[in-house]
Amino acid sequence: MKILVTGGAGFIGSAVVRLAVSRGHKVVNLDALTYAACLDNVASVSDNPLYAFEQADIRDRGALDLIFAAHAPDAVMHLAAESHVDRSIDGPGDFVETNITGTYNMLEAARSHWESRGRPESFRFHHVSTDEVFGSLPADPAVKFTEDTPYDPRSPYSASKAASDHLVRAWHETYGLPVVLSNCSNNYGPYHFPEKLIPVVILNALAGKPLPIYGRGENVRDWLYVEDHADALLTVVERGAVGRSYNIGGENERSNLELVRTLCTILDELRPAAAPYAEQIAFVADRPGHDARYAIDPSRIREELGWRPSVTVEEGLRRTVQWYLDNEDWWRPLQAREGVGQRLGTARAAQ
Ligand SMILES: NC(=O)c1ccc[n+]([C@@H]2O[C@H](COP(=O)([O-])OP(=O)(O)OC[C@H]3O[C@@H](n4cnc5c(N)ncnc54)[C@H](O)[C@@H]3O)[C@@H](O)[C@H]2O)c1
Repeated sequence: MKILVTGGAGFIGSAVVRLAVSRGHKVVNLDALTYAACLDNVASVSDNPLYAFEQADIRDRGALDLIFAAHAPDAVMHLAAESHVDRSIDGPGDFVETNITGTYNMLEAARSHWESRGRPESFRFHHVSTDEVFGSLPADPAVKFTEDTPYDPRSPYSASKAASDHLVRAWHETYGLPVVLSNCSNNYGPYHFPEKLIPVVILNALAGKPLPIYGRGENVRDWLYVEDHADALLTVVERGAVGRSYNIGGENERSNLELVRTLCTILDELRPAAAPYAEQIAFVADRPGHDARYAIDPSRIREELGWRPSVTVEEGLRRTVQWYLDNEDWWRPLQAREGVGQRLGTARAAQ
């Protein structure tokens, strides 16, 4: 299959690109190379004849038409997005433009390409989304997000992703575009940009800095290793039913405080010089509108497509910490990028 992957220089997109190429797919990586991108993430495949890169912005419809015409993909995996909730609080406009208008442009460019080729049934437009569109869950562990959970986004980020999900469904119902959707829980793993919680904790611990935890650290997230997400995404684009959405999660619920304590324990073992790292934990002002709990019921993708995560969260976190210990050359330059290392997303709290 020839797959056009958008956002392939980001965290999850690059894992998709690496896995797809390793499985023999042709991949065109379309990415604007924003502050969140790093082409080193795909260095392992950049010389592979199955791989091509196109620097383009999904807000630029003309550029998208040229790329569809040049590469004639069989499938699109659309991951390009503004993805950081805290940045969406400080600057929601970029999220509306990239996540909503950009997805609209991708749908129109894909529809034009699909129609020009005689509307092949085998074509796929896979929209990659988040569980955050479903809002916030109560503490009851029996209550989880299913594909039928009503949408209830509560941050500019999740609202923009929810809007894009609705556009994708509308393009299927109205124009017949063969779409599939997936909504995934929090990812972690190698190449995670150093402004997100897990890399911040690892890198601050190594630097002897405070490990910032929002509020009391009681917010619960359902963690999935990024390479397992990439495997799920390829499963959905290859075998998902047209018009259907799939929730993807690792069934690994942890409060932020539990997660950070686990990372500290792993660091105590792997880099004992400055142990115990848990002494560096510092509680800071909460994020405005911080959702209490996310948890995914992944029954549909397990039962219909046979997908399962391959690593436990303990193993995945250990691999992740080791990866950051081994790859300072990757993360050190990214820490100099705009906004990284600063407290973002306190717009309302500061009023
Ligand atoms: N990170 C998570 O835990 C998570 C969980 C569920 C779903 N998702 C979704 O997965 C996708 C990828 O997330 P991520 O964490 O890898 O994000 P990321 O921020 O690491 O990467 C996003 C990529 O998109 C590119 N991009 C941004 N704006 C663009 C534009 N206008 N045109 C072209 N490219 C642009 C960036 O350059 C970057 O390479 C997003 O759609 C996100 O909503 C993320």
